[in-house]
Amino acid sequence: MSKIALITGASSGMGKAAALRLSQEGFTIVAAARREDRLAELADEIKRGGGECLPVKTDVGNLQEIQSLVQNTVLKYERIDLLFNNAGMMNAAPIEQLPHEDIEQMININVLAAIRIVKEVVPVMKKQNTGLILNVSSVLGRKTRANAWVYAASKWAITAMNEGLREELVGTRIRVCSLQPGVVNTELFDRFPEHPAKWQNISEMIKPEEMADLIAYIVNLPWHLNINEVLIRPTEQIV
Ligand SMILES: NC(=O)c1ccc[n+]([C@@H]2O[C@H](COP(=O)([O-])OP(=O)(O)OC[C@H]3O[C@@H](n4cnc5c(N)ncnc54)[C@H](OP(=O)(O)O)[C@@H]3O)[C@@H](O)[C@H]2O)c1
Repeated sequence: MSKIALITGASSGMGKAAALRLSQEGFTIVAAARREDRLAELADEIKRGGGECLPVKTDVGNLQEIQSLVQNTVLKYERIDLLFNNAGMMNAAPIEQLPHEDIEQMININVLAAIRIVKEVVPVMKKQNTGLILNVSSVLGRKTRANAWVYAASKWAITAMNEGLREELVGTRIRVCSLQPGVVNTELFDRFPEHPAKWQNISEMIKPEEMADLIAYIVNLPWHLNINEVLIRPTEQIV
């Protein structure tokens, strides 16, 4: 039986790249996001490559949808070997110009949803006594800066969650790792008036496929090795 990877934010960027790569590594993919058309395209691509993908339309901002995502995954596949806890959003602006709605979304999706899904998945992995939880933090989960500190606060929360959870799970064979990327070339910045790569003079951003290679490396380590966090920037990135 193949291993099961539950991926949030699988409709684009790092989540999509990870889904495609992990499918090549032999994982069955449970792909969650809100954009059903994107998930259907992903599932088709995975199937054409000989893999299996279950697209599940999910708004991780909704607790019931998180719970049914995890419950239905377990009902169908009886296990979850990998959680790629990846769904997120970013807006950056001086605090007076940051809409309340964006602040709430960053906290709800980047923090609350990430914690909620971990709460649902941990008992499943404990029952198996195996698993890997990959939490997506950011360079801004280790640093902060003007105009992006609400997002940074949300990603610092993931850094805190990751380390606390790791300690809590010592004694099981569940590994916990946080990814802290710098600028990755995804849709995350589509709403920005100026792309961060531009103001930071970054000519080569990290590609989502390069993050997927890193994920595949971590995933394929034996259970007794736990890379706890990975900070990775484009070489040209300063902050
Ligand atoms: N790009 C970077 O430079 C960078 C750097 C550090 C960390 N990160 C983090 O990496 C993660 C992935 O982002 P990305 O860069 O790959 O950007 P992306 O292409 O915009 O992907 C974000 C994903 O999150 C999903 N998502 C957002 N809100 C959601 C919701 N309410 N319910 C379910 N899914 C939701 C989106 O799917 P739908 O819209 O279809 O729901 C999408 O699949 C995020 O946590 C981000 O903060 C990115």
